[in-house]
Amino acid sequence: MARIAVIGSGYVGLVTGACLAELGNTVTCLDIDRARIEQLQRGVLPIFEPGLDELVISNAAAGRLCFTAEYADAIPDVDFAFIAVGTPSGASGEADMSYCEAAARSIAGAMTAPVTIVNKSTMPIGAGDWVTGIVKRGQRESIPFSVVSNPEFLREGSAVRDFLGPDRIVLGSSDRLAAVRVAELYGPLKAPVLITDIRTAEMIKYASNAFLATKISFINEIAAICEELGADVKEVALGMGLDVRIGKGFLDAGLGYGGSCFPKDVRALEHMASVHGCHPQLLRAVMEINRDVRRRFIQRLRQALGTLDGKVIGVLGLAFKPNTDDLRDAPALEIIHLLRHEGARIRVFDPAAMGHARAQLPQDVYFASDAYDCAAGCDALALVTEWAEFKDLDMARLYAKMEWPLLIDGRNVYDPDEVRDIGFQYIGMGRPGPGAPLMAPTQAGSAGLR
Ligand SMILES: NC(=O)c1ccc[n+]([C@@H]2O[C@H](COP(=O)([O-])OP(=O)(O)OC[C@H]3O[C@@H](n4cnc5c(N)ncnc54)[C@H](O)[C@@H]3O)[C@@H](O)[C@H]2O)c1
Repeated sequence: MARIAVIGSGYVGLVTGACLAELGNTVTCLDIDRARIEQLQRGVLPIFEPGLDELVISNAAAGRLCFTAEYADAIPDVDFAFIAVGTPSGASGEADMSYCEAAARSIAGAMTAPVTIVNKSTMPIGAGDWVTGIVKRGQRESIPFSVVSNPEFLREGSAVRDFLGPDRIVLGSSDRLAAVRVAELYGPLKAPVLITDIRTAEMIKYASNAFLATKISFINEIAAICEELGADVKEVALGMGLDVRIGKGFLDAGLGYGGSCFPKDVRALEHMASVHGCHPQLLRAVMEINRDVRRRFIQRLRQALGTLDGKVIGVLGLAFKPNTDDLRDAPALEIIHLLRHEGARIRVFDPAAMGHARAQLPQDVYFASDAYDCAAGCDALALVTEWAEFKDLDMARLYAKMEWPLLIDGRNVYDPDEVRDIGFQYIGMGRPGPGAPLMAPTQAGSAGLR
């Protein structure tokens, strides 16, 4: 079994560390955020991720997982040092590599024996060589090391399950033996392993995220067209997804992609492409559609209410997706901002993200105790994050709480007929309403075309 340091104890680092410990390795998770490390040492998790607390507590109790804020504790004598620090968007959309740079420098300064450095953070193409250069320059004496790119594909909300049951393991290195050593760590998972050169591995991550974001923007564009032409995008997506060449994943029309990965990774790929002389027009369209979908949502609300000024809007769901408390690039934040800008008063509820949201939202936002409290006195209720518990709400009770029963379903989770029967005025995403245009034959005889 291997000795491993994981640098960065956020969503990816903590899951990586806990899961590698679960596979029998001895793991030290490191973070420069001392408060976070002290919390972890007390068995308190700084993030919400289903199943992670059990894994952290049981592996810490078994002596396979510990936490430190000191590189000098974590790095000497480890076989592998995983870098899992953030790579947020920089000013021009590029990946901000300052955290990776600091981590690589610190590894270089603390290593006392040969180590395999594993780039788990999503790093731009060419970062493998860049990390190699930083470590070489930062070493006090020359100690051999290798760098392997090992992009992570887990999804927040199901991160533990995804890590322990991946579709594939991607490894890229100029040192094939180092890549094979990393592959052995994942051996128990019995997943397909793809070993490539380092730049190709780095690109696989960006291309995968960009493709998934493209699917989302594609179906959102179709949804907007459905709205105008009176088709139901939910059934369109079903009909498309049954074709195995298309696949049904990522075809849910809604409020677009958010979170800590897709937005910044599409931006970073667009940036890399354009500064290298390419014209990444598809990526640009993907981003533009993602922006437009939220503005269109606001427009539909405004149209239904006449004005947003002075209206009370309840927002159900703040996290960028269900089963996480992560608010990074969450559609809810932008929607709340746009609504307040037009004079609306906001009530919010989220099952997990209220704590983080209090720090980010203005003081005039009302933090409700549950979905029914959120709906109380509202002129409209906006479903923004499709938490399972919102699907099972007592809709009649919700209806009774509202001042005006407008329900705008940003994730198409409700059955339009059912909620309309209760009395709601229902607006979905790309779904025909009672006022949807009828298909009328034109004079030219092109029946069905508007
Ligand atoms: N979150 C996801 O779903 C996901 C999925 C796949 C890949 N990724 C990628 O993984 C990387 C990490 O993402 P995340 O969501 O876990 O980020 P995060 O912000 O949750 O965690 C990063 C952690 O690194 C720590 N850190 C920063 N600089 C450090 C340093 N020099 N030394 C030690 N610790 C340091 C921070 O304090 C923080 O706790 C990013 O590149 C991201 O793109 C994320």
